[in-house]
Amino acid sequence: MHSITSHFQPDASGATPKQLDYLPNLKLSDGNEMPMLGYGLGTANFAKKGAPTDEINNSTVTAIKAGFYHLDGAESYGNEAELGAAIKKSDVDRTKLFVTTKTSCRRGETIEQAFSRSLQKLGLDYVDLYLIHSPFWAEKPEDLVAKWAEMEAIKESGRAKSIGVSNYLKEHLEVILAAKPKYPPVVNQIEYHPYLQHVTDGETGDLLEYLRTNNIAVEAYAPLTAITKAKGGPVDPIYAALAKKYGVTEGEVALRWCLDQGIVAVTTSSNEQRLHAFLSKVPSFKLTPKEVEDIAKAGRQKHYRGFWTNKFKEDDRR
Ligand SMILES: NC(=O)c1ccc[n+]([C@@H]2O[C@H](COP(=O)([O-])OP(=O)(O)OC[C@H]3O[C@@H](n4cnc5c(N)ncnc54)[C@H](OP(=O)(O)O)[C@@H]3O)[C@@H](O)[C@H]2O)c1
Repeated sequence: MHSITSHFQPDASGATPKQLDYLPNLKLSDGNEMPMLGYGLGTANFAKKGAPTDEINNSTVTAIKAGFYHLDGAESYGNEAELGAAIKKSDVDRTKLFVTTKTSCRRGETIEQAFSRSLQKLGLDYVDLYLIHSPFWAEKPEDLVAKWAEMEAIKESGRAKSIGVSNYLKEHLEVILAAKPKYPPVVNQIEYHPYLQHVTDGETGDLLEYLRTNNIAVEAYAPLTAITKAKGGPVDPIYAALAKKYGVTEGEVALRWCLDQGIVAVTTSSNEQRLHAFLSKVPSFKLTPKEVEDIAKAGRQKHYRGFWTNKFKEDDRR
C-alpha cells in the first residue's frame, strides 16, 4: 500500500494527486512537504488597505480552524503580526502548519535583517518556506546570485525549512542555478491561471517546463482569476460544464485544474462556507487529462495578468 501511494505523491516534476478525501501534500525537492491548497494573506492587504487588524486576525483564525494549514504571508502584506497572532489563537499545533513568508529585498538591508524582523513579527522560531517575493529589485544578474547566497544561509541555520522564489522568470532562475547553489530554490510562486500560463511559443508552457525539469515546484497565486477579475472569457463555458458534471463550483474546478497539473494553489476567501467547501470538494474529484487540456487550450486564447503589471508589456505572456 505504501508503494502505491508514494507512486502518486505529487512532486516538483508535475506528478498529480489522486482523488482523495483529504488535501494532499506536494513533496518538495528538499524532502519537505507542502499542502496543495494555501490560504493567502495578501488579498486582505490589497483589497482592504487599512482593514482593522482584528478583522484580518479573525478571518485567518477561521481559515486555520477550517483546515487551511498552509498560510501564505509576506513582509509587504503588512500583516505578519496578525498572521502570527492568528496562529497562536487557532490553537493548532505549530508542527501541523506550513507557514510561508517573503522578503521584498529592500535596498540597504540584508536578508538576515529582513528575516529576523519577519520571524519576530510572526512570533515564530522558524518558517516552513521563505521566498524572495520578486526579482524586480535586482539591478544586475549578480545581485540575484548574491541574494540567493544569503537565502541559503537562512536555510542552513534551520530557521527556514525550505527556501524559494516568487515571480521569477526563466532568465532569473538560470542565473541562480548557473552558480550551482548548495540549496537551489524549491518553489517558484507565480501568477497562474488559464489566462496566464507563461506560454510563449503558442503550445507549451515554457516556464513550467523549465521549473519541472529543474525540480522547482510551481505554486499558483490568483488561481481563480478566470472567474473573478477576468470573467467573460473562453474558459467560462468549460468551467461551467465541469462544475455541473462533478457537482462542484467553478472555483473548485479552477483550483483542481492546478492540482491536476501538480501545482500548489494559493487562494483566499473571507467566506467561511467557501473555505470549508474548497477543502472538502477540491480533493474529492479529479479532472481527466483531456479536461485539463481543454481548459488550457481555451485559456490560451486570452491573456490576462493581474499582478506586477507595471513590470510587463500588455501582451507579454512570460
Ligand atoms: N507572490 C505574489 O506576488 C503574489 C501576488 C498576489 C497574490 N499572492 C498570494 O496569493 C493569495 C491569493 O491571491 P488571490 O486573492 O488573487 O487569489 P484567488 O484565489 O484568485 O482569488 C481569491 C479571491 O476571489 C474571491 N472569490 C472566490 N470565489 C469567488 C466567486 N465565485 N466569485 C467571485 N469572487 C470569488 C475571494 O473573495 P471572497 O472573500 O468573496 O471569497 C477572494 O477575494 C494572496 O492572498 C497572496 O497570499 C501572491
